Amino acid sequence: MSECAVICGLGTCLPERVITNEDLTARLDTSDEWIRRRTGIQRRRMVDPGTSTGDLAVAAGQAAQVSAGRSADFVVLATTTPDRPCPATAPEVAHRLGLTEVPALDIAAVCSGFVYALGLAEALVRAGACDQPLVIGAEVYTSIIDPQDRNTAVIFGDGAGAVLLRRGDSGEPGAIHAVELGSSGAGSDLITVAGGGSRIPGREQQVPREQRYFRMQGREVYRQAVARMTSSARSVLDRVQWSPSSVRAFVGHQANQRILDAVADRLGVSKCYRFGNIAEVGNTAAASIPLAMADASASNRIHPGAPTLLTAFGGGLTWGSAAVTWPDVVPVSLPPKSPTALCGSMTDRETDAVATAPQPH
Ligand code: ACO
Repeated sequence: MSECAVICGLGTCLPERVITNEDLTARLDTSDEWIRRRTGIQRRRMVDPGTSTGDLAVAAGQAAQVSAGRSADFVVLATTTPDRPCPATAPEVAHRLGLTEVPALDIAAVCSGFVYALGLAEALVRAGACDQPLVIGAEVYTSIIDPQDRNTAVIFGDGAGAVLLRRGDSGEPGAIHAVELGSSGAGSDLITVAGGGSRIPGREQQVPREQRYFRMQGREVYRQAVARMTSSARSVLDRVQWSPSSVRAFVGHQANQRILDAVADRLGVSKCYRFGNIAEVGNTAAASIPLAMADASASNRIHPGAPTLLTAFGGGLTWGSAAVTWPDVVPVSLPPKSPTALCGSMTDRETDAVATAPQPH
């Protein structure tokens, strides 16, 4: 047994509004059949106007703390759709959670963001920099997707998920045994919002449509995603000396059902141990792994302590995998918090959670 970070709380937030494939076929040259067959997606969630990534992050963060029955002392928020370019969204999220003056930062690793944030947070615990970091993945992807681009508009959705970590030991359910991260900036143009940064500043009104919205070279991204997730997953399993056949829960970033199937097939993870919810929520980028974990938890098909493999790939290019044991947690789901909502003490939070029915996934 050795000291490590342990997942002790799991929270989610999904906007109520559902966008079905039929809703999209009404305005795009696509079909329900194409979307289901090529991606596995049937519907996704979308925020109401005025609801931001921070609003979803506050709700998911609060839900994770309620699930754990304890408060965080550090906040790491993984997002590519921050509330604004400056400052980071995490400090305001921490403030709204009532976490006075805790360190708080954003991580922008696109769809690998949650695994990156988890890796950073567990290292902070091991280094003694904090005891109970809150790791949130939250996105309002619909704010950067071009509604006229059928290549991306059918794939992405909004949502947030969070886990609370605490100091514990490697024999406990929820223990984070190893995290493996990587990147290749050579592929930075494959997934990009080209304008709005220092290279093509957003203040220049003439930024063309192509550079204002999220663009993805799907075919090449698909190829890279399968290769990178497979090799990253293999190396994290090697580090902890788990064979792929011993994995009892495989939760990959919900990019595309075909990508997830290809990765799990290559690794040799049995079909009955694969979990995901892409059909219901689409690709929610940094939010997707904790959202899928909460959904898997509700299935009652995984036992606390089961060897679990998390793996992700995204823009950057970035990728990462984590070997953890399934946490002994009951996930809590809360609706988005209004922009001005401040969460109170733990007692208030518990009351709030009890009063809120879990959202259907
Ligand atoms: N409806 C109908 N046809 C479509 C649609 C659509 N929504 N989108 C694309 N097509 C067409 C294309 O125009 C193309 O037509 P053509 O042959 O006449 O040129 C044809 O379908 C095939 O296009 P492909 O891009 O080859 O389709 P593919 O099977 O690769 O599926 C997809 C596209 C779903 C985007 C897939 O490539 C994919 O999932 N890529 C990876 C996504 C991913 O993993 N992203 C990583 C994380 S994302 C992040 O980090 C934010």
